Amino acid sequence: MHTEMGHDIEKAASLLEAGELVAIPTETVYGLAANALNAKAVARIFEVKNRPHFDPLIVHLSAGSGPESPMSGMTSMGPCRDVAKAEDYLRRMLDPYVRDLPVWALKLARSFWPGPLTLVLPRKPVIPDIVTSGLDTVALRIPAHLATLELLARLPFPLAAPSANLFGRVSPTTAQHVVDQLGGKISYVLDGGPCGIGLESTIVGEVAGAPAILRLGGLRQEDIEAAIGNVAHAPSGAKPLAPGNLESHYAPSAPLYFDDLGYAQRGYAPGEVALLLYKKELAGVPADQQRVLSPLGDLNEAAQKLFAAMRELDALCAKRGLKAIFTQKFPDQGLGRAINDRLKRASAARVS
Ligand code: TXA
Ligand code: MG
Repeated sequence: MHTEMGHDIEKAASLLEAGELVAIPTETVYGLAANALNAKAVARIFEVKNRPHFDPLIVHLSAGSGPESPMSGMTSMGPCRDVAKAEDYLRRMLDPYVRDLPVWALKLARSFWPGPLTLVLPRKPVIPDIVTSGLDTVALRIPAHLATLELLARLPFPLAAPSANLFGRVSPTTAQHVVDQLGGKISYVLDGGPCGIGLESTIVGEVAGAPAILRLGGLRQEDIEAAIGNVAHAPSGAKPLAPGNLESHYAPSAPLYFDDLGYAQRGYAPGEVALLLYKKELAGVPADQQRVLSPLGDLNEAAQKLFAAMRELDALCAKRGLKAIFTQKFPDQGLGRAINDRLKRASAARVS
């Protein structure tokens, strides 16, 4: 199958209406989308990604269009001005899919949708089992990307979409990344440019009757807590609630060491390693084997560049026969927490 990359929203819509898959841009990462209400179309997502069926998908909803939507025409994240109107709209919009909408969830949705936030809520039966892996809950979000909002507004159904990478690998933040991994397996990638945030959405659900972060991501914990107060982190048990939390995930092919720049102690020469760094290069290793994510120390910029840099270094390792990628720990605040989370999981792949 030939994989085409383009800007044709009309074409993306027709393919999705015909039950086919289309890769779509979002502000976080690219998604591999299908009609969320069509179990057969959704099954193809698992096939193409080599994704195990115990890993449920996120359902992407339209922000609506026309004057009745307080979110229509929105080009970036931000709270809606008329609180009552926005909440009423969200309630009606979510009603077909969820049985219960707790106050904390409504508040978060109003504050951060469209945006890098996914809410896990009790689902109604219209969502097929294959989307939720049979769970009694469904993960939902409204993405903040103009092309995809326009696409969603045209479709009579929401879109189930996991990140558009092979299972366990690094998520794509450009259309070309999608083609690199899924080329030949899908017919169309809607190109919306590089993703502005670059990390998957933050997932919040209810654990023991209180909101908890199930996966760190593109919305800062600090912002969530400013809106609804302290939130817990879901305990990482043997059966993860959000398999994006699997120990080994987001992995490049080359071995990756997290919070460890001691390549010499591990027996590597400077000519054999690649480095992924926050603000400054490390003396002693050739500059072209290093990627610095944000010289000015901006964690948002670092997050935006993280996955592309991981891919680049991985490719460099393959091309030049470099043996390993060494990374440092980022400040444990803002998006630094999610960056550290992804790097830790990328490094776990080495030992399992
Ligand atoms: O930013 C994002 O979230 C991107 C874009 C495309 O929206 N999507 C994404 O999807 O990262 P994916 O499939 O790679 O990760 C979705 C995560 C999985 O770890 C899954 O387990 C979790 O969401 N999830 C989905 N439904 C869930 C549910 N009912 N309960 C708990 N976790 C759920
Ligand atoms: Mg993923």
